Amino acid sequence: MMRCFSRSPDLRPVLLLAMTAGCGSYDNRGLEQFASTGQLVALSGGGAGAQGACLTCHGVDGGGDGTAVPRLAGLGAGYMVAQLDAYADGRRQHPQMQAIAERMTRRQRLLVSDYYAALPYRSKVEMSSPAAPLLYTKGDPERGLPSCASCHGLSGEGVGSGNPPLAGQPAAYLADQLHRWRLSLRRSDARNVMQQISLKLTAEEARTLSDYAASLSGYPPNREPPAASRAARHADPRNDASRPPLHEGG
Ligand code: HEC
Ligand code: HEC
Repeated sequence: MMRCFSRSPDLRPVLLLAMTAGCGSYDNRGLEQFASTGQLVALSGGGAGAQGACLTCHGVDGGGDGTAVPRLAGLGAGYMVAQLDAYADGRRQHPQMQAIAERMTRRQRLLVSDYYAALPYRSKVEMSSPAAPLLYTKGDPERGLPSCASCHGLSGEGVGSGNPPLAGQPAAYLADQLHRWRLSLRRSDARNVMQQISLKLTAEEARTLSDYAASLSGYPPNREPPAASRAARHADPRNDASRPPLHEGG
């Protein structure tokens, strides 16, 4: 028990948690084991130190700040670790996130991504807005623009592990990302699809699409997704696809 109190002061919040989480009752779950979890990295910033503590900017629940800082809760672990790698090697540029990611070990990036992927995301939106921009649902074949929904889902829930949810992200953050792709400040996707897409959008379209995507529901837990996009669901914790199916449309 005493060894729980013998660490440096900046671990104090973690120690408190460690005490409630296991130090008291389980002899075999000491601080060492606790310290190797993604939760510790989120609380302590891992190699980035206290200034990099994820929760100070991304929120205790991983929900983001509603304006410039994206939510992490429920995003795909593979997507997040790829983004942290991209910040670390400069393919994705952002002063704060680059400084943080490059100080983390690869293992810390993996652990913290797993941690946030498993955090439940609670949508604040009741239902998807009915007035979807055509570009979102249908794209524009004449300009070679695929629909956003084909990769991000009709409810902005994301598709598979590489195409992230847009629902619940701040509109300004989404618009800023499209802008960054245009300027080649974000080169994180291997196939470069988002840069090609963003270069074809007018500034007005980028803003409209960002506002719309941010307002989407992303399938709130306990709600059946619209039948049209049910087929696009993947086995993914954020879609709650692991639970037994309810009624698959008859
Ligand atoms: C000082 C505030 C701050 C701290 C601390 C911070 N972040 Fe961030 N994070 C941001 C901002 C701002 C962005 C958006 C950056 C951009 O536009 O590329 C971001 C973006 C991200 C993204 C990309 C999300 C997406 O949807 O593409 C990931 C992943 C991420 N942060 C993980 C972390 C992790 C893990 C930690 C802790 C080790 C952390 N962040 C700490 C501010 C912060
Ligand atoms: C062919 C698939 C595809 C299509 C179509 C597509 N996207 Fe994406 N989008 C992606 C991928 C993949 C990423 C993640 C890129 C990365 O790894 O950095 C992404 C990321 C984004 C992000 C950043 C999300 C974040 O958390 O940082 C925004 C904003 C975005 N897309 C908007 C759009 C909009 C708006 C459309 C429609 C005009 C669209 N996308 C169409 C595949 C697609």
